[in-house]
Amino acid sequence: MTNNLNEFLTTRKQVIEDYLFTYVQELQIPEQLKSSMLYSLKAGGKRLRPVLVLALLNAYGKREKDGIPVGCAVEMIHTYSLIHDDLPCMDDDDLRRGKPTNHKVYGEATAVLAGDALLTESFRLITSQLSEDVPADQKLRIIDELVKSAGALGMVGGQFEDMEAEQKQIPLAELESIHARKTGKLLTFSVAAGAMLAGASDDDIEKLREFSYHIGIAFQIRDDILDLEGSEEKIGKRVGSDTANDKSTYPSLITLSRAKEKLNEHITRAKEIVSNLELKQQLLHDLCDLIASRDH
Ligand code: IPE
Ligand code: IPE
Ligand code: MG
Ligand code: MG
Ligand code: MG
Repeated sequence: MTNNLNEFLTTRKQVIEDYLFTYVQELQIPEQLKSSMLYSLKAGGKRLRPVLVLALLNAYGKREKDGIPVGCAVEMIHTYSLIHDDLPCMDDDDLRRGKPTNHKVYGEATAVLAGDALLTESFRLITSQLSEDVPADQKLRIIDELVKSAGALGMVGGQFEDMEAEQKQIPLAELESIHARKTGKLLTFSVAAGAMLAGASDDDIEKLREFSYHIGIAFQIRDDILDLEGSEEKIGKRVGSDTANDKSTYPSLITLSRAKEKLNEHITRAKEIVSNLELKQQLLHDLCDLIASRDH
């Protein structure tokens, strides 16, 4: 990892976590519910989605601070998706972010509600915490984007089809479509919302959607690979969960070595798209390399 990227990730992660933990800590809600929400938020996590929001503002030379509430909102939705993904009725996992999964500590009912609360509260971050400089129509546009990315048209729909694809051979195009929604859509939200806040043109935003489509697929292919080859200590999740659940993954469908090739093809395409945009490119290129080679 380059020194610049390392510095960017460390400093922005800190800013995001400070804001996120304080925001949830100050909510006037039942203590056990808050404790369960904070447990999963504080368990760790790379904070890639909020980092992407800030990276886009940075790449356009705009004030990163404006992206913090939106970054925290998408991190809350992502964390809820992980709590629900780990439930016994879903992937049935007992380790997440290096700690016992939420339902193992708080029980299934509280874990479900903590997820629901993180999802719903995330929208209030956008409606109440965005800078006054952001016009109302811009806020609405971001909310609309988040609904489409996180809901049935996006992550939830992808999770549903991921579940339906267990114990099955599906065409690769179908698996790509599942990856694009269950994982890609929230990453696309981060990139598109960051670009919207930066005042990027509609044309740039369309190209950036294409960029994030590719990093989204690449990110989930890497996740599938780490489920086979990763170290439990580094990924903070059980290795072999996909195999145990007979999931449709890139390695299970096209072999591990073809999955690695596909990953690189998507990363190369993503970098080409960024190279044709008028913004600071280095940070986005470095993030692409990180997604391709990450070990957790
Ligand atoms: C894990 O996401 C779930 C997927 C979408 C593949 P991350 O790998 O970003 O998990 P954290 O946030 O770092 O724990
Ligand atoms: C799930 O993909 C992505 C989500 C929307 C949570 P996985 O089921 O592969 O994620 P991990 O491996 O449990 O983090
Ligand atoms: Mg899953
Ligand atoms: Mg899972
Ligand atoms: Mg996985």
